Amino acid sequence: MTKPRKLYVKSYGCQMNVYDSHRMADTLAPEGFIETATPDDADLVILNTCNIREKAADKVYSELGRIRVLKDEAAREGRRVTVAVAGCVAQAEGEEIIRRAPAVDIVIGTQGYHRLPEMLRRAERGEIQRKQIDTEFPVEDKFEHLAAPSRAAMRKRGVSAFIAVQEGCDKFCTFCVVPYTRGAEVSRPVASIVAEAERLADAGVREITLIGQNVNAYHGDGADGRPFTLGRLLHRLAEIPGVARLRYSTSHPRDMVRDSDDSLIAAHRDLPALMPQLHLPVQSGSDRMLEAMNRRHTRADYMRIVERLRQVRPDIAFSSDFIVGFPGETDDDFNDTLRLIDDVGYAAAYSFKYSPRPGTPAAEMAQLPEAVKDERLQRLQRLIERRQADFMDRCVGLTFDVLFERPGRHPGQIVGRSPYLQPVPVVGPSSLIGEIAPVTITEVRTNSLFGVLVHEPGRAAGSLAEAIGA
Ligand code: 5AD
Ligand code: SF4
Repeated sequence: MTKPRKLYVKSYGCQMNVYDSHRMADTLAPEGFIETATPDDADLVILNTCNIREKAADKVYSELGRIRVLKDEAAREGRRVTVAVAGCVAQAEGEEIIRRAPAVDIVIGTQGYHRLPEMLRRAERGEIQRKQIDTEFPVEDKFEHLAAPSRAAMRKRGVSAFIAVQEGCDKFCTFCVVPYTRGAEVSRPVASIVAEAERLADAGVREITLIGQNVNAYHGDGADGRPFTLGRLLHRLAEIPGVARLRYSTSHPRDMVRDSDDSLIAAHRDLPALMPQLHLPVQSGSDRMLEAMNRRHTRADYMRIVERLRQVRPDIAFSSDFIVGFPGETDDDFNDTLRLIDDVGYAAAYSFKYSPRPGTPAAEMAQLPEAVKDERLQRLQRLIERRQADFMDRCVGLTFDVLFERPGRHPGQIVGRSPYLQPVPVVGPSSLIGEIAPVTITEVRTNSLFGVLVHEPGRAAGSLAEAIGA
Protein backbone atom coordinates (compact mmCIF):
# COMPACT_ATOMS: atom_id res chain seq x y z
CA MET A 1 0.00 0.00 0.00
CA THR A 2 1.22 3.53 -0.79
CA LYS A 3 2.23 5.69 2.15
CA PRO A 4 -0.47 8.31 2.83
CA ARG A 5 0.38 11.77 1.58
CA LYS A 6 -1.31 14.99 2.57
CA LEU A 7 -3.35 17.13 0.20
CA TYR A 8 -4.40 20.72 0.87
CA VAL A 9 -6.98 22.14 -1.54
CA LYS A 10 -8.03 25.78 -1.29
CA SER A 11 -11.11 26.88 -3.23
CA TYR A 12 -11.77 30.43 -4.31
CA GLY A 13 -14.95 31.79 -5.88
CA CYS A 14 -18.09 29.93 -6.82
CA GLN A 15 -19.83 26.69 -5.84
CA MET A 16 -18.55 25.04 -9.01
CA ASN A 17 -15.01 25.44 -7.69
CA VAL A 18 -16.00 23.92 -4.34
CA TYR A 19 -17.49 20.98 -6.22
CA ASP A 20 -14.43 20.62 -8.46
CA SER A 21 -12.14 20.75 -5.40
CA HIS A 22 -14.02 17.82 -3.89
CA ARG A 23 -13.74 15.91 -7.17
CA MET A 24 -9.97 16.58 -7.30
CA ALA A 25 -9.61 15.22 -3.76
CA ASP A 26 -11.70 12.16 -4.73
CA THR A 27 -9.54 11.58 -7.82
CA LEU A 28 -6.34 11.79 -5.76
CA ALA A 29 -7.61 9.56 -2.92
CA PRO A 30 -6.69 6.30 -4.74
CA GLU A 31 -3.17 7.76 -5.13
CA GLY A 32 -2.86 7.75 -1.34
CA PHE A 33 -3.74 11.40 -0.67
CA ILE A 34 -5.71 12.36 2.40
CA GLU A 35 -7.00 15.89 2.88
CA THR A 36 -5.52 18.22 5.46
CA ALA A 37 -6.94 21.54 6.63
CA THR A 38 -3.70 23.54 6.43
CA PRO A 39 -0.96 23.92 3.83
CA ASP A 40 1.76 23.65 6.52
CA ASP A 41 2.22 19.88 6.41
CA ALA A 42 0.86 19.22 2.90
CA ASP A 43 2.77 17.25 0.26
CA LEU A 44 0.52 18.60 -2.47
CA VAL A 45 -1.09 22.05 -2.45
CA ILE A 46 -3.82 22.84 -4.97
CA LEU A 47 -5.18 26.36 -5.35
CA ASN A 48 -8.50 26.19 -7.19
CA THR A 49 -8.68 29.75 -8.43
CA CYS A 50 -11.29 32.30 -9.48
CA ASN A 51 -10.94 34.89 -12.21
CA ILE A 52 -14.35 36.56 -12.12
CA ARG A 53 -13.05 39.89 -10.78
CA GLU A 54 -9.55 41.33 -10.68
CA LYS A 55 -9.38 41.12 -6.88
CA ALA A 56 -10.17 37.41 -6.95
CA ALA A 57 -7.32 36.76 -9.39
CA ASP A 58 -4.86 38.89 -7.35
CA LYS A 59 -5.48 36.76 -4.27
CA VAL A 60 -3.89 33.79 -6.04
CA TYR A 61 -0.56 35.50 -6.52
CA SER A 62 -0.36 36.64 -2.89
CA GLU A 63 -1.24 33.11 -1.70
CA LEU A 64 1.43 31.69 -4.03
CA GLY A 65 3.97 33.99 -2.34
CA ARG A 66 3.12 32.41 1.04
CA ILE A 67 3.17 28.89 -0.40
CA ARG A 68 6.62 29.52 -1.86
CA VAL A 69 7.99 30.23 1.64
CA LEU A 70 6.42 26.96 2.90
CA LYS A 71 7.84 25.05 -0.03
CA ASP A 72 11.36 26.43 0.59
CA GLU A 73 11.16 25.61 4.31
CA ALA A 74 10.02 22.06 3.53
CA ALA A 75 12.84 21.65 1.01
CA ARG A 76 15.37 22.59 3.70
CA GLU A 77 13.93 19.74 5.81
CA GLY A 78 14.28 17.40 2.83
CA ARG A 79 10.53 17.29 2.11
CA ARG A 80 9.10 17.91 -1.34
CA VAL A 81 5.93 20.00 -1.72
CA THR A 82 4.21 19.99 -5.11
CA VAL A 83 2.17 23.07 -5.97
CA ALA A 84 -0.69 23.03 -8.48
CA VAL A 85 -2.82 25.94 -9.68
CA ALA A 86 -6.24 24.89 -11.01
CA GLY A 87 -9.45 26.75 -11.91
CA CYS A 88 -10.19 29.83 -13.94
CA VAL A 89 -6.95 31.76 -13.40
CA ALA A 90 -5.04 28.66 -14.50
CA GLN A 91 -7.27 28.46 -17.54
CA ALA A 92 -6.95 32.14 -18.44
CA GLU A 93 -3.29 32.82 -17.74
CA GLY A 94 -1.25 29.63 -17.43
CA GLU A 95 1.95 31.06 -18.95
CA GLU A 96 1.79 34.10 -16.71
CA ILE A 97 1.49 31.94 -13.57
CA ILE A 98 4.58 29.96 -14.48
CA ARG A 99 6.48 33.18 -15.23
CA ARG A 100 5.39 35.00 -12.06
CA ALA A 101 5.31 32.13 -9.56
CA PRO A 102 8.33 29.83 -9.79
CA ALA A 103 7.01 27.64 -6.94
CA VAL A 104 4.29 26.28 -9.25
CA ASP A 105 4.78 22.75 -10.65
CA ILE A 106 1.37 22.17 -12.26
CA VAL A 107 -1.07 24.49 -14.01
CA ILE A 108 -4.31 22.76 -14.87
CA GLY A 109 -7.32 24.35 -16.63
CA THR A 110 -10.93 23.82 -15.63
CA GLN A 111 -11.64 20.70 -17.68
CA GLY A 112 -8.58 18.55 -17.02
CA TYR A 113 -8.86 17.46 -13.40
CA HIS A 114 -9.16 13.76 -14.17
CA ARG A 115 -5.61 14.02 -15.56
CA LEU A 116 -4.16 15.20 -12.23
CA PRO A 117 -2.66 11.85 -11.12
CA GLU A 118 -0.72 11.50 -14.36
CA MET A 119 0.41 15.15 -14.33
CA LEU A 120 1.46 14.79 -10.71
CA ARG A 121 3.70 11.82 -11.48
CA ARG A 122 5.42 13.79 -14.22
CA ALA A 123 5.76 16.89 -12.03
CA GLU A 124 7.41 14.77 -9.35
CA ARG A 125 10.03 13.86 -11.93
CA GLY A 126 10.73 17.59 -12.24
CA GLU A 127 8.79 18.43 -15.42
CA ILE A 128 6.54 21.52 -15.25
CA GLN A 129 3.05 20.48 -16.27
CA ARG A 130 0.64 22.85 -17.97
CA LYS A 131 -2.72 21.92 -19.48
CA GLN A 132 -5.52 24.32 -20.35
CA ILE A 133 -8.78 23.80 -22.20
CA ASP A 134 -8.20 22.59 -25.69
CA THR A 135 -9.66 19.90 -27.87
CA GLU A 136 -7.82 17.39 -25.70
CA PHE A 137 -10.09 18.24 -22.77
CA PRO A 138 -13.77 18.18 -23.71
CA VAL A 139 -15.97 18.83 -20.68
CA GLU A 140 -17.87 15.58 -21.35
CA ASP A 141 -14.65 13.81 -20.33
CA LYS A 142 -14.56 15.64 -17.05
CA PHE A 143 -18.12 14.60 -16.14
CA GLU A 144 -17.41 11.04 -17.17
CA HIS A 145 -13.97 10.46 -15.69
CA LEU A 146 -13.75 12.35 -12.43
CA ALA A 147 -13.76 9.94 -9.52
CA ALA A 148 -16.88 9.58 -7.39
CA PRO A 149 -16.45 10.30 -3.69
CA SER A 150 -16.06 7.37 -1.33
CA ARG A 151 -18.88 6.78 1.14
CA ALA A 152 -16.61 8.05 3.93
CA ALA A 153 -15.85 11.26 2.02
CA MET A 154 -19.57 11.82 1.36
CA ARG A 155 -20.42 11.36 5.03
CA LYS A 156 -17.68 13.75 6.11
CA ARG A 157 -19.00 16.46 3.79
CA GLY A 158 -22.35 16.52 5.54
CA VAL A 159 -26.05 16.33 4.83
CA SER A 160 -26.17 18.94 2.09
CA ALA A 161 -24.31 18.39 -1.19
CA PHE A 162 -23.79 19.91 -4.63
CA ILE A 163 -24.11 18.07 -7.91
CA ALA A 164 -22.77 19.72 -11.09
CA VAL A 165 -25.34 19.20 -13.85
CA GLN A 166 -23.94 21.50 -16.50
CA GLU A 167 -20.86 23.57 -17.03
CA GLY A 168 -19.96 26.58 -19.14
CA CYS A 169 -22.06 29.32 -20.63
CA ASP A 170 -23.08 30.56 -24.08
CA LYS A 171 -24.62 33.82 -22.91
CA PHE A 172 -21.59 36.12 -23.29
CA CYS A 173 -22.65 38.90 -20.94
CA THR A 174 -20.22 41.66 -21.90
CA PHE A 175 -18.62 41.83 -18.43
CA CYS A 176 -18.07 38.12 -17.85
CA VAL A 177 -15.08 35.79 -18.32
CA VAL A 178 -17.00 32.56 -17.71
CA PRO A 179 -17.71 31.70 -21.38
CA TYR A 180 -13.93 31.98 -21.95
CA THR A 181 -12.67 30.18 -18.83
CA ARG A 182 -15.33 27.46 -18.61
CA GLY A 183 -16.13 27.14 -22.29
CA ALA A 184 -19.43 26.51 -24.07
CA GLU A 185 -22.50 25.20 -22.25
CA VAL A 186 -22.48 21.42 -21.85
CA SER A 187 -25.12 19.45 -19.93
CA ARG A 188 -24.33 16.24 -18.11
CA PRO A 189 -26.26 13.07 -18.96
CA VAL A 190 -29.33 12.43 -16.77
CA ALA A 191 -28.24 8.90 -15.82
CA SER A 192 -24.93 10.08 -14.40
CA ILE A 193 -26.64 12.82 -12.34
CA VAL A 194 -29.24 10.38 -10.99
CA ALA A 195 -26.50 7.87 -10.09
CA GLU A 196 -24.57 10.54 -8.16
CA ALA A 197 -27.73 11.67 -6.35
CA GLU A 198 -28.54 8.06 -5.39
CA ARG A 199 -25.04 7.54 -4.01
CA LEU A 200 -25.27 10.76 -2.01
CA ALA A 201 -28.72 9.90 -0.63
CA ASP A 202 -27.45 6.47 0.31
CA ALA A 203 -24.62 8.09 2.30
CA GLY A 204 -27.10 10.23 4.26
CA VAL A 205 -27.32 13.40 2.16
CA ARG A 206 -30.77 15.00 2.53
CA GLU A 207 -30.41 18.18 0.49
CA ILE A 208 -29.03 18.43 -3.04
CA THR A 209 -28.22 21.67 -4.82
CA LEU A 210 -27.86 21.28 -8.56
CA ILE A 211 -25.14 23.62 -9.73
CA GLY A 212 -23.84 25.01 -12.98
CA GLN A 213 -22.78 28.40 -14.34
CA ASN A 214 -26.13 28.54 -16.09
CA VAL A 215 -27.97 25.74 -14.41
CA ASN A 216 -31.40 26.40 -15.88
CA ALA A 217 -29.96 26.07 -19.39
CA TYR A 218 -29.80 22.35 -18.52
CA HIS A 219 -30.93 20.07 -21.35
CA GLY A 220 -30.53 16.31 -21.14
CA ASP A 221 -31.84 13.47 -23.24
CA GLY A 222 -34.52 11.23 -21.79
CA ALA A 223 -34.52 7.49 -22.52
CA ASP A 224 -38.11 8.00 -23.76
CA GLY A 225 -36.94 10.53 -26.38
CA ARG A 226 -38.50 13.42 -24.44
CA PRO A 227 -35.83 16.00 -23.54
CA PHE A 228 -34.98 16.60 -19.90
CA THR A 229 -35.38 20.18 -18.82
CA LEU A 230 -34.18 21.24 -15.39
CA GLY A 231 -37.82 21.03 -14.21
CA ARG A 232 -38.09 17.42 -15.30
CA LEU A 233 -34.70 16.59 -13.79
CA LEU A 234 -35.83 18.02 -10.43
CA HIS A 235 -38.94 15.79 -10.55
CA ARG A 236 -36.75 12.76 -11.23
CA LEU A 237 -34.38 13.53 -8.34
CA ALA A 238 -37.27 14.14 -5.92
CA GLU A 239 -38.23 10.46 -6.42
CA ILE A 240 -34.98 9.26 -4.82
CA PRO A 241 -35.65 7.99 -1.29
CA GLY A 242 -33.92 10.18 1.31
CA VAL A 243 -33.72 13.29 -0.89
CA ALA A 244 -35.84 15.75 1.09
CA ARG A 245 -34.71 19.09 -0.30
CA LEU A 246 -33.69 20.33 -3.73
CA ARG A 247 -32.26 23.65 -4.86
CA TYR A 248 -30.49 24.89 -7.99
CA SER A 249 -28.06 27.69 -8.71
CA THR A 250 -27.14 29.88 -10.64
CA SER A 251 -29.97 30.68 -13.00
CA HIS A 252 -30.30 33.10 -15.87
CA PRO A 253 -33.64 34.94 -16.09
CA ARG A 254 -33.93 34.10 -19.80
CA ASP A 255 -33.84 30.37 -19.08
CA MET A 256 -36.61 30.31 -16.47
CA VAL A 257 -38.94 29.63 -19.41
CA ARG A 258 -37.25 28.00 -22.39
CA ASP A 259 -38.84 27.54 -25.82
CA SER A 260 -42.22 28.19 -24.13
CA ASP A 261 -41.54 25.32 -21.74
CA ASP A 262 -42.85 26.20 -18.27
CA SER A 263 -41.75 23.07 -16.47
CA LEU A 264 -39.27 24.83 -14.20
CA ILE A 265 -41.83 27.33 -12.94
CA ALA A 266 -44.35 24.49 -12.59
CA ALA A 267 -41.81 22.53 -10.51
CA HIS A 268 -41.91 25.34 -7.94
CA ARG A 269 -45.67 24.71 -7.68
CA ASP A 270 -45.70 20.92 -7.84
CA LEU A 271 -42.59 19.75 -6.02
CA PRO A 272 -42.65 20.13 -2.24
CA ALA A 273 -38.96 19.12 -2.10
CA LEU A 274 -37.98 22.12 -4.22
CA MET A 275 -37.18 24.81 -1.68
CA PRO A 276 -38.97 28.18 -1.96
CA GLN A 277 -35.77 30.09 -2.62
CA LEU A 278 -34.17 31.17 -5.88
CA HIS A 279 -30.93 32.93 -6.75
CA LEU A 280 -31.84 34.79 -9.91
CA PRO A 281 -29.16 37.36 -10.75
CA VAL A 282 -30.41 40.47 -12.54
CA GLN A 283 -27.20 42.60 -12.36
CA SER A 284 -29.00 45.91 -13.03
CA GLY A 285 -32.49 47.43 -12.92
CA SER A 286 -31.88 49.67 -15.93
CA ASP A 287 -32.93 48.53 -19.38
CA ARG A 288 -30.10 50.56 -20.91
CA MET A 289 -27.52 48.75 -18.75
CA LEU A 290 -29.15 45.33 -19.29
CA GLU A 291 -28.78 45.92 -23.01
CA ALA A 292 -25.15 47.08 -22.72
CA MET A 293 -24.45 44.00 -20.59
CA ASN A 294 -26.01 41.78 -23.29
CA ARG A 295 -28.37 40.23 -20.75
CA ARG A 296 -31.03 39.86 -23.44
CA HIS A 297 -33.98 40.62 -21.20
CA THR A 298 -35.60 43.77 -19.84
CA ARG A 299 -36.45 44.82 -16.33
CA ALA A 300 -40.13 44.10 -17.14
CA ASP A 301 -39.25 40.56 -18.32
CA TYR A 302 -37.49 39.96 -15.02
CA MET A 303 -40.39 41.31 -12.96
CA ARG A 304 -42.79 39.08 -14.90
CA ILE A 305 -40.77 35.99 -13.97
CA VAL A 306 -40.66 37.05 -10.32
CA GLU A 307 -44.43 37.54 -10.34
CA ARG A 308 -45.10 34.21 -12.03
CA LEU A 309 -42.97 32.40 -9.48
CA ARG A 310 -44.73 34.21 -6.63
CA GLN A 311 -48.08 33.19 -8.11
CA VAL A 312 -47.18 29.50 -7.98
CA ARG A 313 -45.16 29.68 -4.74
CA PRO A 314 -46.18 32.75 -2.72
CA ASP A 315 -43.50 32.27 -0.05
CA ILE A 316 -40.58 32.08 -2.51
CA ALA A 317 -37.56 34.15 -1.44
CA PHE A 318 -35.34 35.72 -4.10
CA SER A 319 -31.69 36.63 -4.10
CA SER A 320 -29.63 38.28 -6.81
CA ASP A 321 -26.22 39.56 -7.92
CA PHE A 322 -25.73 43.22 -8.82
CA ILE A 323 -22.94 44.99 -10.65
CA VAL A 324 -22.52 48.72 -9.99
CA GLY A 325 -20.43 51.09 -12.06
CA PHE A 326 -20.73 49.23 -15.34
CA PRO A 327 -19.36 51.42 -18.20
CA GLY A 328 -21.88 54.16 -19.04
CA GLU A 329 -24.01 53.72 -15.90
CA THR A 330 -25.65 57.07 -15.03
CA ASP A 331 -27.25 58.16 -11.75
CA ASP A 332 -30.63 57.39 -13.33
CA ASP A 333 -29.53 53.87 -14.28
CA PHE A 334 -28.25 53.30 -10.78
CA ASN A 335 -31.48 54.60 -9.24
CA ASP A 336 -33.41 52.15 -11.44
CA THR A 337 -31.40 49.37 -9.77
CA LEU A 338 -32.21 50.69 -6.29
CA ARG A 339 -35.89 50.79 -7.24
CA LEU A 340 -35.80 47.24 -8.56
CA ILE A 341 -34.40 46.04 -5.23
CA ASP A 342 -37.41 47.54 -3.48
CA ASP A 343 -39.85 46.24 -6.09
CA VAL A 344 -38.65 42.64 -5.74
CA GLY A 345 -37.99 42.64 -1.98
CA TYR A 346 -34.93 40.38 -1.98
CA ALA A 347 -34.10 38.13 0.96
CA ALA A 348 -30.38 38.46 0.15
CA ALA A 349 -28.10 39.85 -2.54
CA TYR A 350 -24.46 40.03 -3.55
CA SER A 351 -23.11 43.20 -5.09
CA PHE A 352 -19.89 44.00 -6.85
CA LYS A 353 -18.10 46.94 -8.40
CA TYR A 354 -17.65 46.37 -12.09
CA SER A 355 -14.17 44.95 -12.69
CA PRO A 356 -12.84 45.07 -16.27
CA ARG A 357 -11.73 41.59 -17.35
CA PRO A 358 -9.19 41.25 -20.15
CA GLY A 359 -10.69 39.87 -23.34
CA THR A 360 -14.32 40.79 -22.53
CA PRO A 361 -16.15 43.48 -24.56
CA ALA A 362 -16.96 45.77 -21.58
CA ALA A 363 -13.27 46.06 -20.70
CA GLU A 364 -12.85 48.03 -23.96
CA MET A 365 -15.62 50.53 -23.08
CA ALA A 366 -14.99 53.91 -21.35
CA GLN A 367 -14.73 53.21 -17.61
CA LEU A 368 -16.34 55.10 -14.71
CA PRO A 369 -14.15 56.66 -12.00
CA GLU A 370 -13.40 54.39 -9.03
CA ALA A 371 -14.89 56.93 -6.59
CA VAL A 372 -18.28 56.76 -8.36
CA LYS A 373 -18.25 52.96 -8.20
CA ASP A 374 -17.29 53.03 -4.51
CA GLU A 375 -20.05 55.43 -3.58
CA ARG A 376 -22.71 53.48 -5.50
CA LEU A 377 -21.59 50.17 -4.05
CA GLN A 378 -21.90 51.53 -0.53
CA ARG A 379 -25.39 52.91 -1.16
CA LEU A 380 -26.54 49.70 -2.78
CA GLN A 381 -25.12 47.55 0.01
CA ARG A 382 -26.80 49.66 2.68
CA LEU A 383 -30.16 49.20 0.94
CA ILE A 384 -29.61 45.45 0.54
CA GLU A 385 -28.69 45.11 4.22
CA ARG A 386 -31.90 46.91 5.22
CA ARG A 387 -34.04 44.71 2.97
CA GLN A 388 -32.29 41.56 4.19
CA ALA A 389 -32.95 42.61 7.79
CA ASP A 390 -36.64 43.29 6.93
CA PHE A 391 -36.93 39.81 5.47
CA MET A 392 -35.41 38.20 8.55
CA ASP A 393 -37.55 40.26 10.92
CA ARG A 394 -40.64 38.99 9.12
CA CYS A 395 -39.57 35.43 9.93
CA VAL A 396 -39.81 36.01 13.71
CA GLY A 397 -42.84 34.17 15.09
CA LEU A 398 -43.13 31.86 12.08
CA THR A 399 -42.65 28.12 12.28
CA PHE A 400 -40.93 26.33 9.44
CA ASP A 401 -39.02 23.18 8.69
CA VAL A 402 -35.28 23.23 9.33
CA LEU A 403 -32.75 20.70 8.07
CA PHE A 404 -30.13 20.29 10.79
CA GLU A 405 -26.57 20.21 9.44
CA ARG A 406 -24.01 20.48 12.22
CA PRO A 407 -23.33 21.07 15.91
CA GLY A 408 -23.48 24.74 16.97
CA ARG A 409 -20.79 26.81 18.62
CA HIS A 410 -22.27 26.36 22.10
CA PRO A 411 -22.75 23.05 23.93
CA GLY A 412 -26.19 21.57 23.32
CA GLN A 413 -26.73 23.71 20.23
CA ILE A 414 -27.33 22.46 16.69
CA VAL A 415 -27.53 24.51 13.51
CA GLY A 416 -29.69 23.96 10.47
CA ARG A 417 -30.97 25.96 7.53
CA SER A 418 -34.32 27.54 6.89
CA PRO A 419 -36.05 26.82 3.57
CA TYR A 420 -34.80 30.31 2.60
CA LEU A 421 -31.15 29.40 3.39
CA GLN A 422 -30.53 31.34 6.62
CA PRO A 423 -28.67 29.49 9.40
CA VAL A 424 -31.02 28.49 12.25
CA PRO A 425 -29.36 27.68 15.60
CA VAL A 426 -31.52 25.96 18.25
CA VAL A 427 -30.96 24.06 21.48
CA GLY A 428 -31.45 20.43 20.52
CA PRO A 429 -29.95 16.93 20.48
CA SER A 430 -27.17 16.12 18.01
CA SER A 431 -29.26 13.10 16.97
CA LEU A 432 -31.34 15.60 14.96
CA ILE A 433 -28.42 16.31 12.60
CA GLY A 434 -29.50 15.05 9.20
CA GLU A 435 -33.17 15.37 10.19
CA ILE A 436 -35.81 17.94 9.36
CA ALA A 437 -37.86 19.36 12.21
CA PRO A 438 -40.18 22.34 12.69
CA VAL A 439 -38.72 25.36 14.47
CA THR A 440 -40.43 28.54 15.66
CA ILE A 441 -38.21 31.56 15.04
CA THR A 442 -37.79 33.71 18.12
CA GLU A 443 -35.00 36.15 17.35
CA VAL A 444 -32.74 37.52 14.60
CA ARG A 445 -29.06 37.82 15.52
CA THR A 446 -25.83 38.00 13.49
CA ASN A 447 -27.52 37.01 10.22
CA SER A 448 -29.03 33.91 11.82
CA LEU A 449 -32.61 33.06 12.74
CA PHE A 450 -32.57 31.76 16.30
CA GLY A 451 -35.48 29.51 17.21
CA VAL A 452 -36.93 26.78 19.37
CA LEU A 453 -37.82 23.27 18.30
CA VAL A 454 -41.53 22.59 18.07
CA HIS A 455 -42.34 19.40 19.88
CA GLU A 456 -45.67 18.74 18.25
CA PRO A 457 -45.17 16.31 15.38
CA GLY A 458 -47.38 17.05 12.44
CA ARG A 459 -47.73 20.75 13.26
CA ALA A 460 -48.06 22.68 10.01
CA ALA A 461 -45.15 24.90 9.01
CA GLY A 462 -45.87 28.64 9.20
CA SER A 463 -46.31 30.58 6.05
CA LEU A 464 -44.01 33.34 5.03
CA ALA A 465 -46.54 34.27 2.40
CA GLU A 466 -49.03 35.15 5.15
CA ALA A 467 -46.45 37.29 6.89
CA ILE A 468 -45.60 39.10 3.66
CA GLY A 469 -49.28 39.40 2.89
CA ALA A 470 -48.65 37.90 -0.56
N1 5AD B 1 -17.13 42.64 -12.55
C1 5AD B 1 -17.91 42.63 -11.44
N2 5AD B 1 -18.74 41.61 -11.15
C2 5AD B 1 -18.80 40.58 -12.02
N3 5AD B 1 -19.52 39.46 -12.00
C3 5AD B 1 -19.21 38.73 -13.10
N4 5AD B 1 -18.29 39.37 -13.84
C4 5AD B 1 -18.02 40.53 -13.18
C5 5AD B 1 -17.15 41.62 -13.44
N5 5AD B 1 -16.39 41.67 -14.53
C6 5AD B 1 -20.50 39.16 -10.97
C7 5AD B 1 -21.92 39.03 -11.55
C8 5AD B 1 -22.16 37.55 -11.49
C9 5AD B 1 -21.36 37.15 -10.26
C10 5AD B 1 -21.02 35.70 -10.16
O1 5AD B 1 -20.18 37.92 -10.37
O2 5AD B 1 -22.80 39.72 -10.69
O3 5AD B 1 -23.53 37.22 -11.37
FE1 SF4 C 1 -21.29 35.05 -17.07
FE2 SF4 C 1 -23.56 35.97 -18.11
FE3 SF4 C 1 -22.85 33.40 -18.47
FE4 SF4 C 1 -23.63 34.25 -16.04
S1 SF4 C 1 -24.90 34.21 -17.91
S2 SF4 C 1 -21.85 32.95 -16.51
S3 SF4 C 1 -22.83 36.33 -15.99
S4 SF4 C 1 -21.79 35.18 -19.27
